[in-house]
Amino acid sequence: MKHLLSMKHLSTDEIMMILERAEQFKKYGIRQTPSPYIISNLFFEPSTRTKTSFEMAELKLGLDVLPFEPGFSSALKGESLYDTVKTLEAIGLDALVIRHPEDGYYEPLLDNVNVSLINAGDGSGQHPTQSLLDLYTIKEEFGSFEGLKVLIAGDVAHSRVARSNADALKRLGAEVTFLCPPEWAGEFDCVNCWDEVIGTSDVVMLLRVQHERHDEQTSMTKESYHAQYGLTVERETMMKEKAIIMHPAPVNRDVEIADSLIECGRSRIFKQVENGVYVRAAILDMISKGRQ
Ligand code: NCD
Repeated sequence: MKHLLSMKHLSTDEIMMILERAEQFKKYGIRQTPSPYIISNLFFEPSTRTKTSFEMAELKLGLDVLPFEPGFSSALKGESLYDTVKTLEAIGLDALVIRHPEDGYYEPLLDNVNVSLINAGDGSGQHPTQSLLDLYTIKEEFGSFEGLKVLIAGDVAHSRVARSNADALKRLGAEVTFLCPPEWAGEFDCVNCWDEVIGTSDVVMLLRVQHERHDEQTSMTKESYHAQYGLTVERETMMKEKAIIMHPAPVNRDVEIADSLIECGRSRIFKQVENGVYVRAAILDMISKGRQ
């Protein structure tokens, strides 16, 4: 594997291979990759979990990491992403993990760069490593995807997490339903009432309201959003006995999910974060070995 840019570029066999490698790492520890392999993490949008778990995976694999701070780089002088990437390649980087606000930021880079690119989120486009850690967490819970009913609820149109997961989950045999306000449905067919879906879903995946990607302010208040589209304490009681709650985080407490449910027995929100390290280590391991 040279790059990881979109879930659409991965076959189901490749997805399963990454999940298996992550499982080995979780069971037996993350094995060090023979260096030299030099990587840098370029985050042009804020991040806590994704950036830190990439850094942790890199540390555990024994990769050499060169720090890069977009806020103190020539990007502030107007340098394009293309020129930044070509510069880092010329300096000798082997791989770049990039998060950037523009959908498909990587497309114009592909023909002319040789460095490996790992997409850590492009605008409202794709977030493949989040999707893979979500798939890992679901597989860890249920063993397989065939016939599972997954509900993705929230700001679907602006969510790279929804977009990455929808396609992959369907290809793996899950049945995916979306729930959101009609104005945030994007290209997805969405229901807008919990009653139809809460009692039958195996996975309830909530999404953050992505205010930073909205052109207009919504007329909904936090309270009205929670009452109509959030996972309330009452709705949780209607979930199937073995159903789980997921959320890529950061979480808006009491907006998309009631505060008291974030660490409840069926919540896998922090498990997702934990699994993110193994999944990212698996991807970095496969990409770095592909180059040696
Ligand atoms: C998600 C993202 O950045 O797309 N978060 C994450 O990577 N854990 C979801 C979000 O920001 O709401």
